[in-house]
Amino acid sequence: MQTTAARYQVRPMDFGDISQVMEIEQESFLNNWPTTAFKRELQNNRLARYLVAVERREEAEEPSAPLAEHEPRTATVPPQRLGRWLGEFKRLFGGEEEAEPSGEPVVGFVGVWLAPGEAHIVNIAVRESHRGRGIGELLLIAAVALALLNDREVVTLEVRASNQAAQALYEKYGFKNVGVRHRYYSDNHEDAVIMTTEPIRSPSYQALFHRLRQEHRERCGQYQLDFD
Ligand SMILES: CC(C)(COP(=O)(O)OP(=O)(O)OC[C@H]1O[C@@H](n2cnc3c(N)ncnc32)[C@H](O)[C@@H]1OP(=O)(O)O)[C@@H](O)C(=O)NCCC(=O)NCCS
Repeated sequence: MQTTAARYQVRPMDFGDISQVMEIEQESFLNNWPTTAFKRELQNNRLARYLVAVERREEAEEPSAPLAEHEPRTATVPPQRLGRWLGEFKRLFGGEEEAEPSGEPVVGFVGVWLAPGEAHIVNIAVRESHRGRGIGELLLIAAVALALLNDREVVTLEVRASNQAAQALYEKYGFKNVGVRHRYYSDNHEDAVIMTTEPIRSPSYQALFHRLRQEHRERCGQYQLDFD
């Protein structure tokens, strides 16, 4: 049976991804986090979940041939995944500070804090060269899926009042404007708009989420969400 390979995978961020995530951060935000902030989030913040979207070039461009009947299946580990495992192993047990870069092309990331009752999106960004292809939407789908998986009731966030693109994305996924934090951003004293979903397990939100995921898949192709 022939299957369509997933072009993008969303998986937990690890230390090896940080240099690419920093590149995306720098082209996306006025105020940038230092590398240490990402490391702290990954290592010490028990509420935080960071996910990256990676582009799986080989799978997308050269779908592997279907296995011939009776051909033995060998359990091979892709080299980049092996590298990541080794990097994490060294970090956890070897006391190493720097992990090897993952080598997988990271095209976007999202940070979520799983606070009591709600999942709060801390940051979300897509590599500038890859915007407008549904990757921001994929990351938001992943954030909502993560919230559902962890039994959070709603998803919330703050967004710059001037950020029309991000607000349009959130509105598409049912976020409503519920308040303003005046002069919230220290760089230019811009207001933050507070946005939140209705309860994500409600039948109406489930119907919206299901429809949007389906439309996204039809427009942008298959993807793989690899976290739990
Ligand atoms: C906001 C951001 C994450 C969107 O990512 P993206 O991959 O370009 O967005 P997608 O292609 O998935 O678009 C999904 C939806 O977002 C909205 N959107 C995206 N770009 C938009 C733009 N330039 N203008 C208006 N709406 C836009 C639309 O609703 C779009 O749905 P549609 O295609 O049905 O119209 C991206 O622009 C980004 O990284 N910006 C810089 C960082 C940032 O501002 N993050 C938000 C912090 S709160």
